Amino acid sequence: MPRYLISHLVHPWHNLLVPTPGRVELAHRGGSPRRTLAEPLWRALGQLAARPCDEAALVAGLVARRVATAEVATREVRELIETRYLVEPLRDFWSDHVGALGGAGEAPAPAPAPTPELARDRLRWSGDIIDPHGLWMYPRWLGRPVLQTPEDLVLLQMLMAELRPRFVIETGRFRGGGALFLASMCELLGVGQVLSLELRGDPEVRAALEAHPLGRRITLLDGDSAAPAQVARVAELVGGPGPHLVILDSDHARAHVRAELEAYAPLCTGDGKLVVCDTSMSLCARFADDNPHQAVRDFLGAQPEWRISPWAGAGFVTCAEDGILERLPPAAPEGG
Ligand SMILES: C[S@@+](CC[C@H](N)C(=O)[O-])C[C@H]1O[C@@H](n2cnc3c(N)ncnc32)[C@H](O)[C@@H]1O
Repeated sequence: MPRYLISHLVHPWHNLLVPTPGRVELAHRGGSPRRTLAEPLWRALGQLAARPCDEAALVAGLVARRVATAEVATREVRELIETRYLVEPLRDFWSDHVGALGGAGEAPAPAPAPTPELARDRLRWSGDIIDPHGLWMYPRWLGRPVLQTPEDLVLLQMLMAELRPRFVIETGRFRGGGALFLASMCELLGVGQVLSLELRGDPEVRAALEAHPLGRRITLLDGDSAAPAQVARVAELVGGPGPHLVILDSDHARAHVRAELEAYAPLCTGDGKLVVCDTSMSLCARFADDNPHQAVRDFLGAQPEWRISPWAGAGFVTCAEDGILERLPPAAPEGG
């Protein structure tokens, strides 16, 4: 039995080209042929063909919804198949993907193991696209600049929702958008405090964060994040077991990141995680000799109880490629 999904190319946000009342114009990205449809017919198709549905069932559904006669529905469906707006899925999309995604409240699906191709392409995205165009400079969180890509913000949100950290330690505050984002997630989760560290603390940023309603979830610590006194201050504030999430986003030199990894790893007991930002710099020619990715390799080489977390392959284009680290799970007891 042939099955059809409505093509992903038909989503309205880039295909509703001509805002004629009651009509929608569909266009494949970058090419013809276009199709113009009555809006009620298009909406009904969107509902019917959101799941695999054969041609006869689509026609019957349109007629039952009174959006077309049998003759018109038959013609439209045939033409939409011929012009590839209704496509047969390559595989059993729904059983392959939707089952694995799980519903609200279910345990998250295990992160897919990154294939070498995916890792390479994500790094290429970062090295060829994000860095040369400075795309990391644009995002704002609640109006404050945040030097993370939107993809990495979503990834951090997912990590925090699973970990529910007691403390989130951010090294490198910049304009404060990252600290505000992390505090927002703590507020939404109902748990967590942010410690935000910065070498060159800016009074304007401090004043803005302290005056913000989320400021009560943020503690600002100025000084070198790798200095023993600063590390000791953080350990004192954290004061005990986690889980804690440490996000290393300050000086991206190999030696500094390595020092931070050694200094903050002891705070990440249990499920705690270390996030090393901008490991993707290893793909940028000008940073190829000195970057956080090298620090991750140095650290893992010296600390066999740590590994790259499966979260690092969680299906995202990320600037933290290989950069989410966790302790190896405890070995199962013998004979158990
Ligand atoms: C990439 S930005 C941080 C971006 C921020 N986390 C965000 O999400 O918007 C790096 C920041 O680290 C700070 N920095 C550099 N070296 C540092 C050090 N040794 N200790 C603490 N902060 C440092 C820089 O001044 C800069 O503000």
